[in-house]
Amino acid sequence: MTFEAMWRDLTPVGRSASSGGYFRQPWTCAESELRAWFAEAALARGLELETDAMGNQVAWWRPVGATGSAVLTGSHLDSVLDGGAYDGPLGVVSALAAVDEMRSRGVVPLRPIGVSVFTEEEGSRFGLACLGSRLVTGTTTWESARERQDQSGVYLSDALASAGLDPSAGLLSLADVGCFVELHVEQGRDLVERDVAVGLASQIWPHGRYRFDFVGAANHAGTTRMEDRHDPMLTYAMTVLAANKQARLAGQRATFGRLEVAPNATNAVPSRVTGWLDARCSSDEGLAALVEAITTQGVDRAGRDATVLTVTPESVSSAVHFDPALVASLATLGDWPQIPTAAGHDAGILSAAGIPTAMLFVRNPTGVSHSPAEAAEMGDCLAGVAALADVLTELAT
Ligand code: GLV
Ligand code: MN
Ligand code: MN
Repeated sequence: MTFEAMWRDLTPVGRSASSGGYFRQPWTCAESELRAWFAEAALARGLELETDAMGNQVAWWRPVGATGSAVLTGSHLDSVLDGGAYDGPLGVVSALAAVDEMRSRGVVPLRPIGVSVFTEEEGSRFGLACLGSRLVTGTTTWESARERQDQSGVYLSDALASAGLDPSAGLLSLADVGCFVELHVEQGRDLVERDVAVGLASQIWPHGRYRFDFVGAANHAGTTRMEDRHDPMLTYAMTVLAANKQARLAGQRATFGRLEVAPNATNAVPSRVTGWLDARCSSDEGLAALVEAITTQGVDRAGRDATVLTVTPESVSSAVHFDPALVASLATLGDWPQIPTAAGHDAGILSAAGIPTAMLFVRNPTGVSHSPAEAAEMGDCLAGVAALADVLTELAT
């Protein structure tokens, strides 16, 4: 099945009729359908499918005589809420198409090749990005993961059970994986500006998610004089402005994209506001300094509003510099610029766990991601498949 045919298969799955964006949250119907699709695609190619308790999947191509450590490639099939079509699925479909391409070129790998799908890469349901790859690398423990709840209060272990997964089935082992290459749609306009279809990643910026709890006192919206309020919404609003300003001053990124308000009533001063800060910087020190500056301004404002701000880091990932030797050797295969990214990826988790890792990016004409406007031209996708086939051939023969 061609890349185009696989892409057509996936296009309707989890797509919102109103926005055109994707809702492919882990262990929902849409995501289960995608995992079933992947299992079928593996079967149709005679690849041996391995699945674990989280729904992580690897389809193995082990030609007779292939030995030694495996070359792993792939990405994820889940999306952010109302996400684009390409973030994740492009890497999975391209990996399957690259296997097809290698076979049609008559390439016989000397090392096993695995096509992987890691679950909950976006952390859109249980709040921790790259949960599937964190678990298989031991970066996060099963004991802590199973206690996580989604926004409706469903425990992770119950979500797995209702998707038909067996929490006692164990996790994939990456012990025999020698290297990992993830192909991904670019989430900016670097390749557009350079006028090239494919690039290599040099590094991932440090990034983190932080919960900001602003606590005040609920009261009547009409009868409470303005000067008598303890309004956490005010503290929150000022903190959002401070985050934006501090990130601009430092040339970095800070976003409050998620908010919960209690009691969330039009006619009441809120008692509590919780906002989640996503912060990303070009250095670990820069990230720490940015979050500290935002926190300091928020706490100062809380003092003036008679509210209380508590900041809890929920996940913080250090800078990832992709394996220099691997990246240098892949750079000889094409005219691919090396560019950094401020997006997180399973590739970052595997790299931090000591697996030599690299990433390929495919040009995105809009530069937009985590939005229905994310895009890639078919010609560029096919260039990505050819590049990935070259990379896998280099690594596995
Ligand atoms: C994942 O795509 C992230 O960068 O948050
Ligand atoms: Mn993403
Ligand atoms: Mn992604």
